[in-house]
Amino acid sequence: MAQTVFIPKEIDPAEPRVAASPDTVKRMKALGLDVVVESGAGLNSRIPDSEFTKAGATIGGVADASSADVVLKVRRPSADEIRGYKSGALVIATMDPYGKQAEVEAMGSAGISAFAMEFMPRITRAQVMDVLSSQANLAGYQAVVDAAAVYDRALPMMMTAAGTVPAAKVFVMGAGVAGLQAIATARRMGAIVTATDVRPAAKEQVASLGAKFVAVEDEEFKAAETAGGYAKEMSKAYQDKQSALVAEHIAKQDIVITTALIPGRPAPKLVSAAMVAAMKPGSVLVDLAVERGGNVEGAVADAVITLENGVTIVGHTNVAGRIAASASLLYARNLYAFLESMVDKTSKTIVVNPDDELVKATLLTHGGAVIHPNFASAAPVAAPTAPAEAVSTEPGLDAAPEEAAAVGGEQPGKPEGAA
Ligand code: NAI
Repeated sequence: MAQTVFIPKEIDPAEPRVAASPDTVKRMKALGLDVVVESGAGLNSRIPDSEFTKAGATIGGVADASSADVVLKVRRPSADEIRGYKSGALVIATMDPYGKQAEVEAMGSAGISAFAMEFMPRITRAQVMDVLSSQANLAGYQAVVDAAAVYDRALPMMMTAAGTVPAAKVFVMGAGVAGLQAIATARRMGAIVTATDVRPAAKEQVASLGAKFVAVEDEEFKAAETAGGYAKEMSKAYQDKQSALVAEHIAKQDIVITTALIPGRPAPKLVSAAMVAAMKPGSVLVDLAVERGGNVEGAVADAVITLENGVTIVGHTNVAGRIAASASLLYARNLYAFLESMVDKTSKTIVVNPDDELVKATLLTHGGAVIHPNFASAAPVAAPTAPAEAVSTEPGLDAAPEEAAAVGGEQPGKPEGAA
């Protein structure tokens, strides 16, 4: 009997995305899997049930989760949702597990195999599965759109018979995936763009998009990138130099978009209240890091605040969700690619291979226990339960969580000093 994939409607009202698209449903069907989509799951991403049906899915309800071998989700399942899954089911989602040890353990005790998509290693084979990139790319675009919407001037220079409208000056802080897309978008809209980052590799990327790089390029800067391509937390001395440079630059900007993150740490504070106070009336800051503590002093999650000096600070969270119809298509494709990598093409069954580096990096819980090295140190969860028969697993994974604990490599979001 074919294995079943279930796509629920996200229960968080602030989450409009969905973990499958008509395209990925078709692909899953072609792999020999049955797909059940909860009625209305795609509505907030502009995918009606009928589109899923046309692609080969069956429309069902919440109760269908209980017979699913695989659940594809956007967010970590709630306690209620977990109760509805069968033991042994694979649950693939953005798990956001740091600081959520109890929730991770609950998934372990429930006997589900929970995969955290955000831990996917950034290797060539897994690029198509990189949810951080696909969603950050759209968030970077949307940040510029959001800034333009509250900026009550034009972005491009316009030379008209009635006079010239000057081009807006946009400064992008943090030139990773989101920042680079913000630069490209602001450039397309005609703004004059500058950008900063602490990784030296970003300099060339910024220049290749036609923006000017602004940074303190000292010895510390030259060594500021980890092997995994992420930023390190900079010294106090560097941050002070960076802050002095930024203060002078920011006062002349119309729009500032901040995207700076350091894996596993609170977002670095890059824009102080004094810098905000020095900006011109009508200037706009968009803080994409607001969910992780924010880069801008005074930014408030889920709020758009206009200060007395006429400067607006935009603090939307889940910015990829603000462009849900596009974000869902890419997110769905990321999850499909990962699922496909686990399907044995001959037997047409899902095989969780504990030796696969993608599985090692992402699998949080399996066989009744928390097995991911960053979370397994806590007290053991309830006695392991056997994985469901419907999902075949290679021998060894249930028996040897310590094997998985030997996983090396840098993990996005791994806090410094974590096991
Ligand atoms: P991120 O979301 O962790 O951080 C965003 C940006 O903030 C980074 O560029 C980081 O260097 C910067 N940042 C941190 N502290 C800062 C500070 N104090 N001041 C200014 N900027 C600061 O990073 P993201 O977007 O995930 O990208 C990290 C790297 O990974 C990039 O080099 C990117 O090109 C690379 N990457 C590689 C992929 C692959 O498959 N090989 C896929 C996606 C990204």
